[in-house]
Amino acid sequence: MMTLIAFLFFVISFLLLLTVVILFQLITVSQENKKLSIIISSLQNLSREVYKLTDQTRFMSAMWETLKEVTNADEFTYFVFDGRDTLIPEYVSGIYKNEILKVRLKLGEGFTGRVATTREPAFLNEANKNPISKHIPGTPHEESSLLATPITFNNKLYGAILLTKLQGKKFNKEELKITEIFTNMVASLIASQDHITTIKNGFTGLISVLVKSVELKDTYSAYHSLRVSLISEAIAKEMNLPDAEVYRCKIGGLLHDIGKIGVPEDLLKTDKPMDVSKSEIILKHPEIGYNLLKKVALLDDIADTVLYHHEWYNGDGYPKGLKGEQIPISSRVISVADAIDAMYHGRPYSQRKSIEEICNELEKWSSKQFDLKVVLAAIQSRSKIEEILVNEFNESIEDYGKIFENI
Ligand SMILES: [Fe+2]
Repeated sequence: MMTLIAFLFFVISFLLLLTVVILFQLITVSQENKKLSIIISSLQNLSREVYKLTDQTRFMSAMWETLKEVTNADEFTYFVFDGRDTLIPEYVSGIYKNEILKVRLKLGEGFTGRVATTREPAFLNEANKNPISKHIPGTPHEESSLLATPITFNNKLYGAILLTKLQGKKFNKEELKITEIFTNMVASLIASQDHITTIKNGFTGLISVLVKSVELKDTYSAYHSLRVSLISEAIAKEMNLPDAEVYRCKIGGLLHDIGKIGVPEDLLKTDKPMDVSKSEIILKHPEIGYNLLKKVALLDDIADTVLYHHEWYNGDGYPKGLKGEQIPISSRVISVADAIDAMYHGRPYSQRKSIEEICNELEKWSSKQFDLKVVLAAIQSRSKIEEILVNEFNESIEDYGKIFENI
């Protein structure tokens, strides 16, 4: 009997133990699934923010929301590397934000500085017990744990992410791996942004040099293209044109005379009346500009704008004799901006005019040379245009580059 009871006790104990093990497994699986589900939904949310990387604060805020869910950390700091030897906090979230924002970490200094130097992600539980961690004044050093990952791409350091847990909470290897995955994703995005900026700067620098070289051929038009670009943009915005048209006005204004690169310098600088054959060469510059731009990716969209900037609203212009709305709106805007700058700064064949005289001329030539709608918008934005006309633009080439900002 005792043997039977012992046997039953053993069987029941075994079944109970088995149940506990199964339950524990189920709970673990359920927790793992929950964690996986959090990671997936967090990644999904973060991927929606990727296109906003130019707004790094917003992106880092989204990244922090994700890592907070996954690691249960209390504080987040995104350090940017200044390219020399210092890590500067760019985005901080947590109770001690104000204290952390004052920190400047040299490479190798403190736990994060060391991680940035070795390029090896790591965590440090009970940080206060380890001499490598640097205490930030005003923050609790006791019972805090740190996890840092370097932001690197192709061995170039962009910054570091630091997570902090307070009140004795600790990090584990799994949380380190997850944070590393997120940081690597951010690193590749920041690196692409960096490459885009480098390409954009190179491209705008090249355009600026080209425009400037055309202006240098013509002593009467120093900064003319730059002013036409800014005036065209002012008029386009006054007309509430869509962003794409404002872009065409702005960049088309800068490049409208790029075709003069193919016109001999002595023809551009002459102040004597030209014979027919010489003026025919100058009249070719819209087509030369069109043919140049049509071959350049990113600028082919501007080619038509440049081709038609000497067309007249009544059809008396060149090179095609287009009329009214057949002429692209960006060309009609640039035509007015071009005339305003030429009248204000004068030409070998005409005296300088005052703003008052310019407004009268524009009205006089409305519906003949110019589109009345464009002229009315130019008159409406008269004070803005006046500011552009009197600007000295002493910064030279850099001013041309500014045209491409926010594009
Ligand atoms: Fe022109």
